[in-house]
Amino acid sequence: MNRRAFLKRGVAAVAAPMIVPRHVLGGPEHTPPSEKITLAGIGIGGIGHPQLKSCEKTGFQIVALCDVDDNHAKKTYDHFPQARRYRDFRELLASEKDRVDAVYCGTPDHTHALITLAALREKKHVCCVKPLTRTLEECKLVVEAAKKVGTATQVTASPWSGETGCRVMELLQAGVIGEIREIHLWSDRPKWPQGMTAYPTNTDPVPSTFDWDLWQGPAEKRPFTAEWAKDSIVPDLVSASWGKRAVYHPFNFRGWTAYGTGSLGDMGCHYVNIPYRALKLRYPTRVAATSTRAYSIAYPLASVVTYDFPAREGLPPCQLFWYDGGLRPPVLPKELDGEKLPAGGALYIGSKGVMLNDRVVTPSCAEKAAAVPQTLVRRGEIFQEWLQACKGGEKASCDFEWASYITDFVLLGNLAIQTGKPVAFDPAAMRVTNNPEADALIRQPYHNGWKLEGI
Ligand SMILES: NC(=O)c1ccc[n+]([C@@H]2O[C@H](COP(=O)([O-])OP(=O)(O)OC[C@H]3O[C@@H](n4cnc5c(N)ncnc54)[C@H](O)[C@@H]3O)[C@@H](O)[C@H]2O)c1
Repeated sequence: MNRRAFLKRGVAAVAAPMIVPRHVLGGPEHTPPSEKITLAGIGIGGIGHPQLKSCEKTGFQIVALCDVDDNHAKKTYDHFPQARRYRDFRELLASEKDRVDAVYCGTPDHTHALITLAALREKKHVCCVKPLTRTLEECKLVVEAAKKVGTATQVTASPWSGETGCRVMELLQAGVIGEIREIHLWSDRPKWPQGMTAYPTNTDPVPSTFDWDLWQGPAEKRPFTAEWAKDSIVPDLVSASWGKRAVYHPFNFRGWTAYGTGSLGDMGCHYVNIPYRALKLRYPTRVAATSTRAYSIAYPLASVVTYDFPAREGLPPCQLFWYDGGLRPPVLPKELDGEKLPAGGALYIGSKGVMLNDRVVTPSCAEKAAAVPQTLVRRGEIFQEWLQACKGGEKASCDFEWASYITDFVLLGNLAIQTGKPVAFDPAAMRVTNNPEADALIRQPYHNGWKLEGI
């Protein structure tokens, strides 16, 4: 019997009738080595660095790493000197086979679908950074594949299952601020250039430590440019460019439609996860957007997106407003007069009162709020949830099926932003019924010989 089969059998044996809680074993550091889930990290130089360290702390054993940029990945390679190294994720998956149980994907948005599908094809447990994919078609294929394969999945959106999410759910569902018909979410992103009108005209040699072709993956081939020219004002278009003067890599891929998903794609999954769960939101009937000028190649500097949700499970219809680029709700309820809003947040407007994140700000609702008992189990440590799921325990709170709702949320908003016209989406038919330009963006071509194939 091979290692994975043995592990599975072992899990099945303890999984019935119950999983032994980790605290009984004395915490992750006391997990017997034979129980360790072996993990491969793909895309490890950015957020992959701290997140793989978190995985290690949680109890995963990091045995293989892959990145297309030796320099950007160096700190992660140095932290896990024992891990086998790869540049091409296909080689990692082909070579590691039985030596890896789970795969973490931390690459830019445009390669999430390729890598998660390839890992699922090898029947690995998979954790992908948010947003799950860059297009709606990719999202559908990845979710269908995950369902078929049945391994444990997770997406790194800020969880609804932690303290804040559970408290918001308890308060809203107890009716503390009455019926919710209006939600506002805002983020101070982008902290990377957006609003570009053209690709750079200067090009740079590709360093020998970097595989630009693999980085581009299925995106249309472009010449490599490391940084914006010295006299370019592009990096100054935003209040802070965390990826400095980089054009695409690292970090600044976010602003380009070919690689990233803009401010909404970057932060929307984090912010919407709690309201989606607490208010049982699924697909909006209509999404409309207004923004600074949008170009087909880049997301705009700032946008406002409005989502109309129908009545559902005894809850009234509601509107959700998304703001980015420094924009915020223009009119605040009187309870928030004089209050400085945080850089990003969630505002729930109820028929009886108002909540800012998990704080009830309407004095007349305070007493009722204080009396709401804590009923929901707090989980919410992303990799702990995933590890439990890998071992046959409860599924992670943002498994691919759940993540598909919040990913589709951000991607539909982007269709409205990019086309400047309202979007009515039929999820069963995978069609935008009122906006042919947006409909055409649901499926986007794969280039350079790559194919988007489900399982
Ligand atoms: N809290 C979170 O969950 C969180 C936080 C930040 C970023 N993210 C997500 O993580 C992703 C990456 O963002 P980042 O800021 O780390 O970007 P980054 O550019 O700093 O890092 C991406 C890494 O992936 C590598 N890479 C690119 N293509 C690859 C490929 N085909 N195979 C192997 N390695 C490849 C790059 O060389 C780089 O090391 C994005 O999708 C972003 O939305 C999630």
